Amino acid sequence: MLQFHSTVAPKRANLSSISPPYAVSCLSSSSSSSQSSSSLSFALSPSLHHLSLSRVSKSPLSSPKQKRINVINGQTQPLKVMISGAPASGKGTQCEMIVKKFGLVHISTGDLLRAEVSAGTDIGNKAKEYMNAGRLVPDEIVNAMVTTRLSLKDVKEKGWLLDGYPRSFVQAQSLETLNVKPDIYIVLNVPDEILIDRCVGRRLDPLTGKIYHIKNFLPENEEIKERLITRADDTEEKVKSRLEIYKQNAESILATYKDIMKKVDGNRSKEVVFNEVDSLLSQFLKEKAIASEKQLKKSLPRQDNWRGIPTRLNNIPHTREIREYFYADVLQATQRAISAGKTRLRVDITIPELNPEMDVYRIGTLMELIRVIALSYADDGKRVKVCVQGSMGEGALVGMPLQLAGTRKILEFMDWGDYGAIGNFINIGSIGANDVGEEDDIFILVAPQNAMGNCIIDDLRAMTDSAGSRPVILINPRLKDLPGSSGVMQTMGRDKRLEYAASFENCYHFRLLYYAGTQYPIMGALRMAYPNEYQLYKRVDEEEEAAGKEKYILLSTFEQRPDVNEINDAFDGKKRNRDKDASGFWAFFNSVFG
Ligand code: AP5
Repeated sequence: MLQFHSTVAPKRANLSSISPPYAVSCLSSSSSSSQSSSSLSFALSPSLHHLSLSRVSKSPLSSPKQKRINVINGQTQPLKVMISGAPASGKGTQCEMIVKKFGLVHISTGDLLRAEVSAGTDIGNKAKEYMNAGRLVPDEIVNAMVTTRLSLKDVKEKGWLLDGYPRSFVQAQSLETLNVKPDIYIVLNVPDEILIDRCVGRRLDPLTGKIYHIKNFLPENEEIKERLITRADDTEEKVKSRLEIYKQNAESILATYKDIMKKVDGNRSKEVVFNEVDSLLSQFLKEKAIASEKQLKKSLPRQDNWRGIPTRLNNIPHTREIREYFYADVLQATQRAISAGKTRLRVDITIPELNPEMDVYRIGTLMELIRVIALSYADDGKRVKVCVQGSMGEGALVGMPLQLAGTRKILEFMDWGDYGAIGNFINIGSIGANDVGEEDDIFILVAPQNAMGNCIIDDLRAMTDSAGSRPVILINPRLKDLPGSSGVMQTMGRDKRLEYAASFENCYHFRLLYYAGTQYPIMGALRMAYPNEYQLYKRVDEEEEAAGKEKYILLSTFEQRPDVNEINDAFDGKKRNRDKDASGFWAFFNSVFG
């Protein structure tokens, strides 16, 4: 089996936005399961604007200047969640936590109705008799309330969390008619006897909407305790009636949402219940993001003019033709990624002249690549900031990574063309929040890297925070920790740094493959140019035809960057299970690739 290596390490709240008194012209004769009513017409209370939701509870490229490149929107739609369960199963409690983490707009029909009741509106007066009896309020009222709320802007932007709705088949059908479908339908299951205890012991803070319990969740202080109230429908008798009605309707609603239903055991601590809810929602979001990314990639024109790997890559210096071949490839990949709305991009290109671990590394080639990219965006009218990190460290240890020494000077003195791009459309800066100007459209960062014992990530993070939705392109970054003798970088915030580094998406990747421990001969190459897959090539000598001739043959493609084992297996003609761990000898190479 061939063994390859790369010489480079790869790898509840405010309902204030409810619109002013919304006239609700209720649907006529439809009715809730057992609480049918005649045609109704109400005006919802303006008091809804002040409910506390804690219980009641040009494109991604746009910079401040709003000009720039056309973008295909790669964002996923906001999350839509329904939470259901018997009275006191913990819906409101979980909603509070869901809103905090996922920022959804919480729409609780119970809360909306209670607000109407306390404001003494027509709706409130009508709803009160049903609620106090532990019965469902007529569908017409509730449907109209929810429909209006769902049509508001914040819901469209942030997504929604429907709590206690739909509660009847008619309500579910009302949503279906409007084509309002949740992504996920969560049902909290809790035994009846527990529910009764929870209801009878529940207390509500009328000021914040926060839910307490006389045994399970005590108020934080005496002041809150003093103002707690008990809901009128929280008596044992009424809870039993509410429970009965819930059971009568549950089956008919389930029929509508059975495909997306997730049952959660609600008879555990609220934190444990939330952990499960959280992982269901997070998992859903993750899958949705992957699916939408795939969709986006499919919809993008490939525009890949790549003519295959150029040959004679071992001949140093590379010819102008070879260099330009790569510059064009990198440029097109960044353009496609930016057009797709990507803003945190990473380019890794380690042809021999750009591989700092080889003795033929040429800073001039890196500068030329930067110039091609910067000038191209400047030609499109963008203001480009080319950034090189400054000195790091303190005292006698001050300095900068060797491969960046003198880089800024070279950038300043190099030929940027005759039409005055430099100082106008292209500016040179360093890395940090202070280097982000209002006028800058795109940032190109030259090989940002950690130095021994010094970490560039904080400056980088400050810079990307300031850049907001403007694209930041890292060219050949090296963001792995390089521990210094003090050992500081080994321990402090390592996970966060790695997580941050991983937030940049590879839009271009090219590296040559060699036998382990060598840098000759070239055995193959790995290339990815957004939005295409990783392509694995094998280099073949064509000695029989003409001495010294070579070509690259496409061996395999991968959705994600293949690890060393997958590369080896592809060379061996084997398929490999990605989840299989590398072990022993292979594990060593895997760690090299890291
Ligand atoms: P609504 O307010 O929706 O009442 P509900 O569905 O009966 O639910 P609850 O608010 O009682 O309980 P919950 O599941 O939110 O539990 P909570 O988190 O508060 O509706 C009230 C009325 O409005 C209805 O009866 C009806 O008349 C009307 N209505 C509403 N929507 C309608 C619709 N769509 N159609 C028609 N009519 C409608 O927790 C309960 C207690 O348990 C708290 O004390 C809490 O601290 C405690 N607790 C929560 N989680 C845990 C846990 N994990 N462990 C221990 N204790 C916990």
